[in-house]
Amino acid sequence: MGSIGIFDSGYGGLTILDGIRQRMPEYDYIYLGDNARAPYGTRSFDVVYEFTLQAVKKLFEKGCPLVILGCNTASAKALRSIQQKYLPTAAPDRRVLGVIRPTAEIVGELSHTKHIGVLATEGTIKSESYNLEIAKLHPGTTIVGQACPMWVPLVENNEFDKPGADYFVKDSLEKLMAQDPLIDTIILGCTHYPLLLPKIKQQLAHLSTLNAQPSTIKIIPQGQYIAASLEDYLHRHPEMDTRLTRGGICQYLTTESATKFRESASLFLHEEVEVQHITLN
Ligand code: DGL
Repeated sequence: MGSIGIFDSGYGGLTILDGIRQRMPEYDYIYLGDNARAPYGTRSFDVVYEFTLQAVKKLFEKGCPLVILGCNTASAKALRSIQQKYLPTAAPDRRVLGVIRPTAEIVGELSHTKHIGVLATEGTIKSESYNLEIAKLHPGTTIVGQACPMWVPLVENNEFDKPGADYFVKDSLEKLMAQDPLIDTIILGCTHYPLLLPKIKQQLAHLSTLNAQPSTIKIIPQGQYIAASLEDYLHRHPEMDTRLTRGGICQYLTTESATKFRESASLFLHEEVEVQHITLN
């Protein structure tokens, strides 16, 4: 018996945790942020795999039967190897799930034009994970991606709601829409990006005015969809569901200083949290 583990390179996965806890508050959770080594977005496949595996092992050690990689970059670069190479021999009774497939599943139903844009870190865009998953699930869909290298630093440095953020949000959105003006659905394929949502909506409205088009573009933050997908998974896997404890408690672990995490986490969660410092190796 144990908690659901949620892993992210930093604070972004808190948007996923928040979505999950809103839908399923009765379960226990352990959130692990590898804040000392974030961001992962520009790191190589090998390094992201190594770091993510260390985090998964730590969450297993803490008793989690199920771990969600609440990070698109880790889901894109490490999930498949963990599921195919590590789990079968080292931890056959545990499960690790990611955030890309559940997002790809719902997005096909939301787009009318079948032209979808993905905004994400450089690592996620280069991996083409969204393109591959969406093409498999929704053939005939056109998918274009745009890396937004400044967006995670804007959030991590608490600049996401300041005027300086407008330039970078506008720049990345213009680049995305220039690739394919028929896009009617945009995936926020990075867990940090929901904090920029007010600016994204503002800049998109501005862009559509310039193009003399009504703003009908849907923007998809992931939290609520990952929560729905996890709930569905647990219904389909009662053998896993019965191994999860239900006390409504959430513990927080970070590789950075606990004080720093506590301060920054309040931006995402709007509440004070108890945090423990850990090391990964
Ligand atoms: N949270 C990560 C994601 O969803 C991005 C942050 C990072 O680059 O580490 O991709």
